[in-house]
Amino acid sequence: MIVEITGASLDRAAAILKSGGLVAFPTETVYGLGGDAFNPLALAKIFAAKERPFFDPLIVHVADMEGLEEAADTDALPPLARERLTILSARFWPGPLTLVLPRRSRLPGLASSGLPSVAVRIPSHPAARELIRRAGALAAPSANRFGRLSPVRAEHVAEQLGDKADLVLDGGKTGFGVESTVLDLCAPRVLRPGGLAREAIEAAIGPLADGPFQAAPSSPGMLKSHYAPSAPLVLCPSSEEFPADGSALLFFSGSSREKWLARHAMTPASLRPLPVRTLSETGDIAEAAANLFDMLHEFDRSGCTRIYAERAPGGGLGEAVNDRLSRAAAVEK
Ligand code: TXA
Ligand code: MG
Repeated sequence: MIVEITGASLDRAAAILKSGGLVAFPTETVYGLGGDAFNPLALAKIFAAKERPFFDPLIVHVADMEGLEEAADTDALPPLARERLTILSARFWPGPLTLVLPRRSRLPGLASSGLPSVAVRIPSHPAARELIRRAGALAAPSANRFGRLSPVRAEHVAEQLGDKADLVLDGGKTGFGVESTVLDLCAPRVLRPGGLAREAIEAAIGPLADGPFQAAPSSPGMLKSHYAPSAPLVLCPSSEEFPADGSALLFFSGSSREKWLARHAMTPASLRPLPVRTLSETGDIAEAAANLFDMLHEFDRSGCTRIYAERAPGGGLGEAVNDRLSRAAAVEK
C-alpha cells in the first residue's frame, strides 16, 4: 500500500519494521526496501521479496556515526582506511556514499551475505533519516526485483514488488536517480559508481585505485547485466547510430536530438508518436542521472520492443550513468 509521508505513516512504518515487516521508503538516490538490519527473519524476507540471490549483500542504512558503530567495527580498520573514513564521513555524509567496513559480529551475517565486511551509509533524505531514527538501522537494497530497473518513484516499487512491501512511503521522485557510490576504503577503490562522483572522492582522499570494477562475489551489484528494462537496450557511442524505425530512443541532450532530427530530415512534431525521451534538454549530467531510470520505466510501460540509448559524456556522474546504461544493455533477452 502506498501512503503519503506524515508523522502517522512514519509511526506505522516504524511499527511494521520493529515487528519484522518490510517498508519501502525514498532515499535521495532511489527507493529502498527496508527491513530491521538486526532481525535475520526480516533480512531473509528482503531477499525473497526481491528474488535476490543470497550472495548479493545488502546496504545497512544508519542515522549517524553512533548507528554506524553498532553495525561496523571501525576499530578493526587499518589506520589509513580509518583516516579515510573520518574524512569521507565528515565531508559526504549524510549523502549518496556507501562505505564497505568490517562487520560487527552481532549484525546478522545475512545483512552482508556472510562476508566479514558490511556496506553502510547515512542517507540524507529527511524521511529516510526520520524512519531510521524511529525504527533503528535498516538493511535496504534498492526496492526493485533483482536485476531490474531501480525505482525512483513509489509507483515503480508497487509495480515490481506488489504487496511484498508491507508499506510504501511515497516521497515523490528521488533527487539523484542513481544509487550511491560504493567505496572500498582499503584499496581504496570504487566498487560501484553512483551519485557521488569519483572526482569528489579523489579530491578528499587522493587517487583511487583503478577500477571501478571488482569481480563477483565481493561486489555482486557489479554483475555485468543489471538495472535492466524489459525491452532489449542497445547502447550507442552517439545518437548518430539511432535508427528511424519506431524504436524507443533515449537522447542524452536536446542538441543531440536536434542533430538526429536534421540528419533524418524530420521535424520535432514527427517525433510525437514515437517513444522518445531526452535525459536533459541542456545536457546537464545531474539532471540526466535523475531522469535515467524514470525514463526507462516509462519505456517499459509503453511496451516498446527495443530501446536505443547513447553514452553520456564521461567524468563526474557520467561514470554512473554510463555504468547503468552498459549494464542495462548487457542483458540477454
Ligand atoms: O543508493 C543506494 O545505494 C540504494 C539506496 C536504497 O540506499 N541501495 C542500493 O542497494 O542500491 P543495492 O542492494 O541495490 O546495492 C548494494 C550494492 C551492491 O552492488 C552490493 O554488491 C554492494 O552494494 N555491496 C553491499 N555490501 C557489500 C560488501 N560487503 N562488499 C562489497 N560490496 C557490497
Ligand atoms: Mg540494486
